[in-house]
Amino acid sequence: MTALTESLSAEILASGPLLFSRFMEAALYDSQQGYYRRERDPFGKQGDFFTASQLQPVFGRLIAAAVGDCRRQLGDPADFRVVEWGAGRGEMQPYLEEFGHIAIDVGRGASPGRFTGVVFANELFDALPVDVVRVSGGGINLMRVGWNGGAFTWEIAEPLQSPWREYVERLAAHFDDRSELLIELPVRLEQTLAGMAEPLERGFVIAIDYGYTAREIVRFPRGTLMSYRRHQAIDDVLVDPGIQDITAHVPFTHLAGCASRLKLRENRFESLASFLLRTGESDQFADALKANDDRAAAQLRLQLKTLLFGMGETFRCVTLEKEGAPKS
Ligand SMILES: C[S@@+](CC[C@H](N)C(=O)[O-])C[C@H]1O[C@@H](n2cnc3c(N)ncnc32)[C@H](O)[C@@H]1O
Repeated sequence: MTALTESLSAEILASGPLLFSRFMEAALYDSQQGYYRRERDPFGKQGDFFTASQLQPVFGRLIAAAVGDCRRQLGDPADFRVVEWGAGRGEMQPYLEEFGHIAIDVGRGASPGRFTGVVFANELFDALPVDVVRVSGGGINLMRVGWNGGAFTWEIAEPLQSPWREYVERLAAHFDDRSELLIELPVRLEQTLAGMAEPLERGFVIAIDYGYTAREIVRFPRGTLMSYRRHQAIDDVLVDPGIQDITAHVPFTHLAGCASRLKLRENRFESLASFLLRTGESDQFADALKANDDRAAAQLRLQLKTLLFGMGETFRCVTLEKEGAPKS
């Protein structure tokens, strides 16, 4: 039994079944036992999954080129910075250093005071805790995590209230068959985006992630929660909290609504492939593929291929713009 299994089951026995966001928060971010807070490195070959940030130097060079474009668009301001949220292992640092890179992750780093520049996030939003709702003939209910027979189990709990009820009704309306659906509530998304954008005086938020638009939710009648362990996808997200990753696809239509409430204008919503193609087109990827010998050149071409064709259509890139207050 993991240490978190012990403490979470004790919490359930003392206070009743938990909201899934509480379970996911502890599983990923408990300061001692959370998946992202433990000593063990979850990323890369020896870990549980790869992200684009491990495809270096090509990903770093292309993001640096995109950030450079943003700096030019903003008129090369002296206080330009790039603040990366959910920086993980810090692989972007060497490529974004020239832009005054600041790395933020849970328990590490802090946003500067007001700044002009870029807020960058790769696979941050899919790692935010969510709640889970069941839609059925019987109504719309929250799902909670119980402890039965020595294992965590899903329990149908109280009816869902406003405003999330309307959120679920809007999404559920896209399905022809609504006899049983599971839908996640992105309960931390807006406050996280607000924290990212608040210190930004003027500039851009660039976020890369996997997810769905409201219409695309029909692909996920059972929700999108997934765990990863040793490069295998695992459906049961309640097993061994703290040992395996838990993710939920990002609801991009909701993200766009949050952005608009925060006065961030959505400039682009595109596939990662399209974002990278636009970024690399000015020099036909020459800078990104610069190498000292043939072997290194072949490796970089393989990285670009993986980014464009392996991840390029699955991942999306959202570019939001914050315009400065008009000068008086
Ligand atoms: C899937 S990992 C991606 C890491 C890195 N960006 C990459 O591409 O490899 C998600 C990261 O987001 C971090 N994270 C989650 N919630 C966060 C928050 N509210 N603020 C900052 N970082 C957060 C996690 O600790 C984790 O390092």
